[in-house]
Parts: sequence; structure tokens; C-alpha cells
Amino acid sequence: MKKVIVPLEDRSYDILIGPHLLAETLSNALQGSYGKVIVISDETVWQLHGTALESSLNAASITFNTVLVPAGEKSKSLSELEKILNFFAGNGLGRDGLVIAFGGGVIGDLAGFAASIWMRGVRYIQIPTTLLAMVDSSVGGKTAVNLNAGKNLVGTFWQPSLVIADTSLLKTLPEREWRCGLSEMIKYGALFSPSLFEELASMENTDRLPELIEICCYLKSDTVQADERDNGQRMLLNYGHTFGHAVEKLGDFEQFNHGEAVAIGMMLAATVGERIGITKLESNCKSQLEKVLTAHGLPINCPFSANEMLQAMMMDKKAHDGGIELILLEDIGKASIVWKSAAELQALLIEVLGNE
Ligand SMILES: NC(=O)c1ccc[n+]([C@@H]2O[C@H](COP(=O)([O-])OP(=O)(O)OC[C@H]3O[C@@H](n4cnc5c(N)ncnc54)[C@H](O)[C@@H]3O)[C@@H](O)[C@H]2O)c1
Ligand SMILES: [Zn+2]
Repeated sequence: MKKVIVPLEDRSYDILIGPHLLAETLSNALQGSYGKVIVISDETVWQLHGTALESSLNAASITFNTVLVPAGEKSKSLSELEKILNFFAGNGLGRDGLVIAFGGGVIGDLAGFAASIWMRGVRYIQIPTTLLAMVDSSVGGKTAVNLNAGKNLVGTFWQPSLVIADTSLLKTLPEREWRCGLSEMIKYGALFSPSLFEELASMENTDRLPELIEICCYLKSDTVQADERDNGQRMLLNYGHTFGHAVEKLGDFEQFNHGEAVAIGMMLAATVGERIGITKLESNCKSQLEKVLTAHGLPINCPFSANEMLQAMMMDKKAHDGGIELILLEDIGKASIVWKSAAELQALLIEVLGNE
């Protein structure tokens, strides 16, 4: 079993990574006195893996209640949140209670948000079941739901008390979701680690998956420790996301899933970075990215026009003062944050995408 610590003083916690971890780690983690335990999951995850979690909790003599939401991004909504909070009320979850988020990033964000606002905050454990959630969303304490006006507009910072990444749960993950997680892993490599980037480019099997997840969690933990509230360095993790969120939104959250949109976003950021001279041409960032993304079946071309992208991007949380912070690579392993006015961004997007 691998362990990464997220060192945040009194909010520090462990990320445990490896196969077949659930039973052992849960019984250790849940020793001691807890009030009510409530598991939040989605219908798909519960059908596939509910029994594994149930038997681990039973083996630790933990009684619990389960609330399920439909699978998919639409469940990150105020209406599902309200159902969950009513479930907490109906089941007498007290301040000494514990919430377990068992699912992908949707469940982690939703359950984490519910835990953070219930009675002004109860403890929660993240048990991520997608690769994306293991390397990204379960770590760092950002919780949220979406509004029609945009993604993640309502949320909190609320750190989990433990993350258990049991890689055996990934056996049932559909190919497309697998790629989505790889896209985020490629992001970490591009931002911080040429060696991770290189390993992902030539990855042929998943033997080293726990090690690679560990590296990503370590990189995220480091960034979160330096800037828990996302005012500086943590913004780097948005590489590919400022463009990617716009792609996701313009595709109505159906045409592209998150990781696919981020892949397109990383390519756009590299192209824009080259145009303004931040991304060194001799570093071959763009062609290296193209190679690794296509090797994993991820899309690289943006089908939307400059003006569509501009409008969607200016709704981003990183937009301010009539412009937006762009995360651009200088080289593989080194990124910087560059502010561009809306007019400058428009001109760049027109150059890169055309204005149809
Ligand atoms: N909080 C953060 O820091 C952070 C970071 C990145 C992403 N996110 C959020 O995470 C969400 C995306 O997460 P996601 O990609 O995990 O999506 P998801 O939770 O919707 O999971 C994707 C799909 O995979 C299914 N699934 C989950 N585990 C499975 C398994 N083991 N086997 C088979 N199917 C399984 C789910 O039912 C769902 O249909 C987005 O809402 C995004 O905004 C949050
Ligand atoms: Zn992401």
C-alpha cells in the first residue's frame, strides 16, 4: 500500500493507494467512536461495488445508511444536494457523524459539499472509484455543485479526513472514463514532471498504476499545501481547464466528457502559448502533447469557433477585470500564469480557431 500525506496542519490527512484496500483500511480508519455513518454513492457504482463496501463496513461492525443519486454530472445539483441533506436529517446524522463519498468526482464533490454544510461541517472520507477521482478530485478539499449558469459555482473548501484509493475498483471502469483520468495525469506531467509525462507517453500496461497515482497525488498534495484556497500556485492545476471548461460547456456536457475537454484545452493552451512566445518552440511541447494525447485516444481538435469559446471562457471563475488568467506551458514540466484581456484573447482565438 502506498501512502501520500496532505500536510495541512489540523486538516492533514492520508491518501492510501493500492489494490484491495477497502476492508483493511476502513476497519482501521473507523475504529473509535463515530455517530451515524452515511454512505453517498451513485446508482452505477453501487450496483457494481456496493457489496464490496458493504462487506468491508460490516466486517468492521459499522452500521450505516446509504443514499444513492443517479450517475452523471447532472447529479451535482442543488436538488440532489437537498435530497441528501433531508436524508441526513431523516437519519439523525449528528455533528459526530461521518459521511463516506463512494464514487467518482461527481459523488466526491456532492458528498463533500453536503458534509461541509451539514451542521456547519461533519467529517467525510473519500473513496474514489474513477481514475480521475483518484488522481484529482478526491484530493484537495474543493467541493461543489453546478448551477445552470455554470459548473462548480456553489461550493466550499472542506478537506476529507481520509482518502482510500482502492485500485481494484477500477477494473469495471469504462474505457472512456479511463481516458478521462489519463488526461488529468498527463496534465500533472505537463505541468510539473517531465519524467511522469514521458512515462505516460510510453505507458503500455497498468502494472505501475498505483505508483503513477501516488505521483499525481503527491503533486496535487504539494500544490494544495502551498495554496489551499486557490489564490496562486493552485491555479496552475487549471492547465487545459480554462479552455477545457468552455469546450465542455459548448458541447452541452455530452459531446465531450471532462478529460476529453481538458485534452483539447491543453492543446489549445499550447498553441496559444506558442503564438505569444511563452511556450518555447524548441521545446516541442505541442507535438509532444499531441503524441501522448492521441496515443491514449484523447481528442485534440477544438470544434468551436473563437467567439463561442471567448463567450464561454469569460464566464470562467478565472476571469476578472475584463480578462482572464491563462495557464501556459513554458516547457514540459514548467508552467506560468498569464493574464490576457478579452480583446487579446479574442485575437488569439481567431488566429488559432478562425471566427466562423
Ligand atoms: N474537487 C475537485 O478538485 C475536482 C477536480 C477534478 C474534477 N472534479 C469534478 O469531478 C467530476 C468528474 O469526475 P468523474 O470523471 O469521476 O465523473 P463521475 O463521478 O460522473 O464518474 C464517471 C462515470 O463513471 C461511473 N463510475 C464511477 N466509478 C466506476 C467504476 N469503478 N466502474 C464503472 N463505472 C464507474 C459513474 O457512475 C459515472 O457514470 C466533475 O464534476 C468535475 O467537476 C472535481
Ligand atoms: Zn479536471
